[in-house]
Amino acid sequence: MNTVIDFLKTRRSVKIPNLVEPGPSHNQIEEMLKIASRIPDHGKLAPWRFIVFEGDSRKAAGELLKKAYAAEHPDEKDEERLNFEVRKFTLAPLVIAVVSSIKDGKPEWEQILSAGVACYNLELAAAAMGFSSDWLTEWYSYSDAFHDLMGLAPNERFAGFINIGTAAKKPAERERPSLDQIVTYWKS
Ligand SMILES: Cc1cc2nc3c(=O)[nH]c(=O)nc-3n(C[C@H](O)[C@H](O)[C@H](O)COP(=O)(O)O)c2cc1C
Repeated sequence: MNTVIDFLKTRRSVKIPNLVEPGPSHNQIEEMLKIASRIPDHGKLAPWRFIVFEGDSRKAAGELLKKAYAAEHPDEKDEERLNFEVRKFTLAPLVIAVVSSIKDGKPEWEQILSAGVACYNLELAAAAMGFSSDWLTEWYSYSDAFHDLMGLAPNERFAGFINIGTAAKKPAERERPSLDQIVTYWKS
């Protein structure tokens, strides 16, 4: 079988507990980001950007997650619960946030779609290099406090956090919709 078709037919996300070391090298990260930004983009607006959390910067970002969580849950006094957030970005070897960054000029909807494509192309690039990934939004993609702590502009929002590492085990297949549920052949 054509290897690209086979690759696309078998790709699967891997849940964070099963994303282990080794993660990608610096050169592999750069290569992934080039591929993630080589995508359909109406009007060459580049309506997205990437924030890379690697090594110790994952823990530092986790401290901001804790801060945002505490701001949104002022009654939460359980330090263990708050510290749970600090570890979030250290669970996988690498986390890359894809930020949708809306530019003037073309419809916002198209720019948001393009950010989703950036997320998926990043996952495909990681998979093609032998890694696995998990695209998460979690609570913090929708947190105004985290948005501000991470320095996102008013025209920006998180499209996702792509967690990347080596699969500890092969994931089971996931049920997919059958084509008769989702496809119509239009007849006039
Ligand atoms: C925009 C978006 C956000 C997602 N956020 C989460 C999330 O926060 N938590 C989660 O468990 N899965 C989340 N998922 C689902 C997984 O990333 C993954 O797509 C799903 O498990 C299907 O696996 P597959 O990639 O093997 O088809 C999200 C998917 C998308 C497209």
